Amino acid sequence: MKNSIQNPRKPQQINDPTPLAVKEEVRQMFDNIAPRYDFLNHFLSMGIDRIWRRRVYKIMKRHPHQQILDVASGTGDMAILASKLKPEAIFGIDISKEMLNEQHKKLKAKNLDKLIKLKVADGEDIPFEANSFDIITTAFGVRNFENLDLGLSEMHRVLKNGGITIILEFSKPTKTPVKQLYQFYFKNILPFLGSKISKNSHAYTYLPESVGHFPTGEAFTEHLKNAGFRNTTSHPLTFGIASIYTGQK
Ligand SMILES: C[S@@+](CC[C@H](N)C(=O)[O-])C[C@H]1O[C@@H](n2cnc3c(N)ncnc32)[C@H](O)[C@@H]1O
Repeated sequence: MKNSIQNPRKPQQINDPTPLAVKEEVRQMFDNIAPRYDFLNHFLSMGIDRIWRRRVYKIMKRHPHQQILDVASGTGDMAILASKLKPEAIFGIDISKEMLNEQHKKLKAKNLDKLIKLKVADGEDIPFEANSFDIITTAFGVRNFENLDLGLSEMHRVLKNGGITIILEFSKPTKTPVKQLYQFYFKNILPFLGSKISKNSHAYTYLPESVGHFPTGEAFTEHLKNAGFRNTTSHPLTFGIASIYTGQK
């Protein structure tokens, strides 16, 4: 595939005698931080992630939304928000069983476990038939894919004709002084606080590393186009710290 982007991180960790495949490493990392993920997410983003997900929700509202797939669904904040649209069905897939377990507890408590169905599955090999969904969402998920282009073409495959994929992902602010402040926070404060609270020293150094290598803005929409999406858009949020990308089939 053209311009295929592979996750650039090295799977092998220092002092780790057994090198893991990148995907397995990512899965283990999320399994590990799952019980503390929600707290860390809202704390380290100072709650802004909630505002960003609501922006995704507003886009969803404007499109047919009976069948929804949330890829890299994790602890489910995006899928739970999507339930307010009263769709026929929502499916959440993720490679981390522990992240989905955390989501399942939330769904039970909110009585949403009948509407939102969870499946341990890979976003790069989606276990649904072609043309199944009106909307596909993924929030802070695609950056973790081993092969971004494979994941995007899978999303395109399972989307109905006319359906929309909405991707929320970290991006890189380009303007001074936000760029410098962001880099300082992301490279110094976030890994320090993240490792103290999550007790996983790798998880929050991984975050800035993975964002640093990841395509932003037009570079990202090029990947959407290569996967077959049309009418692609890119909307920077909060000085470009995150972006929402959309593409239709
Ligand atoms: C940063 S969390 C985001 C979770 C959730 N979407 C949210 O907004 O909070 C990233 C999630 O992507 C999942 N993930 C990583 N690679 C994946 C893949 N190839 N297929 C499915 N899920 C994946 C991880 O297990 C993790 O739950």
